[in-house]
Amino acid sequence: MNIIEAVKDRHLFKPYLADKNGSLSTWARWMTCLRVIYGLPIRKPWQKRLIRQCTGRNPDKLNPEGYNRVLLLCGRRSGKSKIAGLIGAFESSLSGREEVCSPGEIPCVTITSPTRDQSAIIKSYLRAALGSPLLDETVVDEAKKRPSFELANGVHVRVLTGDFRTVRGYSQLAVVCDEICFFGTTEESKVKSDTELIRSIKPSLLTTQGRLICVSSKYWEKGWAFGQWKRHFGKDSSRVLVWDATSRTMNPTLSEEDIQAEIDEDPESARSEYLNVWRTDVAAWLPREAIEPCVVFGRTELIRKPNISYRAFVDVSGGRSDDAALAISHKADSKTVLDCVRRWKAPFSPQVVVADMVDVLKSYQLRHVTGDNYSAEWVAESFRKLGISYVKSDKNKSQIYLELLPRICSGEVELLDDDVLIKQLCGLERRCRSGGKDIVDHAPGAKDDVANAAAGAIVFGSKGHFQPGFIIRDRFNGGRTLRNRVLWGEFAKSHRATF
Ligand SMILES: Nc1ncnc2c1ncn2[C@@H]1O[C@H](COP(=O)(O)OP(=O)(O)O)[C@@H](O)[C@H]1O
Ligand SMILES: [Mg+2]
Repeated sequence: MNIIEAVKDRHLFKPYLADKNGSLSTWARWMTCLRVIYGLPIRKPWQKRLIRQCTGRNPDKLNPEGYNRVLLLCGRRSGKSKIAGLIGAFESSLSGREEVCSPGEIPCVTITSPTRDQSAIIKSYLRAALGSPLLDETVVDEAKKRPSFELANGVHVRVLTGDFRTVRGYSQLAVVCDEICFFGTTEESKVKSDTELIRSIKPSLLTTQGRLICVSSKYWEKGWAFGQWKRHFGKDSSRVLVWDATSRTMNPTLSEEDIQAEIDEDPESARSEYLNVWRTDVAAWLPREAIEPCVVFGRTELIRKPNISYRAFVDVSGGRSDDAALAISHKADSKTVLDCVRRWKAPFSPQVVVADMVDVLKSYQLRHVTGDNYSAEWVAESFRKLGISYVKSDKNKSQIYLELLPRICSGEVELLDDDVLIKQLCGLERRCRSGGKDIVDHAPGAKDDVANAAAGAIVFGSKGHFQPGFIIRDRFNGGRTLRNRVLWGEFAKSHRATF
C-alpha cells in the first residue's frame, strides 16, 4: 500500500487529514508533494505546474523511485509538521520497511526538533495519525509521559529534542527533523547546529536506506538547510528533493488578509515566516569561538570574597512562561569576572523568585540590583520591600549585548562554565533594522534570560560601576580600601560613574 492510498482510506489516515465534511481537497498540494517523495505517478497539469514552482525541477524528469533525502522548506502554518507526522506514522506502520532489518536489529522511526514543545507537537501529530481504530490497535507499548512508543510490528517510534546521539544502535527506517533551520539556536538543542545534527543522523540511515525528511520554515542564510537549498533546488538530477513553498501555497485555508496584516506589522519576520524567504537581516551575534576562551573551565560559581564590590543584574518575568535569571559580577584588574548566575524556570510565583533572588544578593552583601528598564512596577516594589533597591537600567537589552561583544572578543571577561549561559550567548542574533539601529535578541522560540542577566552584570560591572555605601578598592590609590559615600540620588544621576 502506498502513502496516497493510505491517506484516502477512511480506516487509515483519512480521519487525520480530512475536514469535518470528510473532504481532503485542501490537502491536494501536499498529496502532490508526497507523490514526488514516494515516486508515485504525476499526471495532472496542475500537479506538474506545482512541482515546477515548488522544486524548480522539470516534473517529467523526477526520480521514479522517489527521494530518500527530502527538505521541505515551507512557510509557517503551511501544514508541514502535520505532514511530517503523517510521514512518520506511515513509515513506522505501513511502509513495510522494518523487513530490511536483520533478526535482532531494532527498527526505529525517530522524530527530532530543536525544542521540547516542538517535539511534543510533532509526537502528538504522529500519534493522531495512528489514531484510526485500525492503526490504534497496532500501538502496543505506550506510556503517556514517555516520549516514545512501540508498534506491534516491532518498530520503535522515538521522539527527541535537539539531539540524536541517544538513538545510536537502532536501525533507522526514517528520521524526521522538524524546524531544522532552528537547531542550535535554542538552549534545549544539544547539537550546535543543523549541520552537526545531520552529521550524526546520516550513518544510522546507511544500512536501511531509510528516509531523512527535514521540514522547516526558512530562517537565516547559513547552515545545512541553506546549503542544501542552494545546492539542490532546481537541479533535475539531484538526489535530494527540496520543496520550497509559501504558507498559502500549501495551505489554501489561510487568509491572505491575515498574512498581509502580519507583514505590515513586522515585514522582515513575516516575509520569512509566511512568504518563506531567507532572512538576510539576521546574523549570529557572538561566535562560539569568541565565547569559549572566556569560559573558566570547571568554574560554576565563585563565593563572596571580602573587599570586593559586586554588581548584580536581574531579568525578572511574570513567571507564566518566561524564565527569570540573576547574575553577579565583579571587576578584577583588567577583567570582569562573572561570579554567579541563577535561573528560575517558569512557571513560578514572581514573589517567591524575588525573595530567592534577594537571598542570593544578600549573600554577596548587595543592596542594589539593576534590571530591565521596561520592567513592571511590582518588580521594583517587591525588591524594595525586602530591602534591595531596584535600579532601572539606562540601557536596553540590545545596547547591553552590543557592549558585551567587544569585551568578549578582547577576552576581558571571565565567564562561568555554565552550559545554559554558553548556549544562550551563542544563540543570540543580530537583526538589522531599517532605522539603522541593530537589535540583538534570542532566536524565535529560544530564550536569553541567563545571557541577559550575565551580560547586564558584566557590562555594568566592567565599567567599575559602584554601589553607594559600599566598600570598594580604589585602583588609583595603591589598593587602599575606601568607603564610598555617594548619596543614592547622586548615584542614580551619575549612573555611569566610574572610578
Ligand atoms: N493544506 C491544509 N489544509 C487544511 N488545513 C491545513 C493545511 N495545512 C495546514 N493546515 C492546518 O494548519 C494548522 C497548522 O499546521 P502545522 O502542520 O502545525 O503547521 P506548520 O507548517 O507551522 O508546522 C493545523 O491545524 C493544520 O491542520
Ligand atoms: Mg510546525
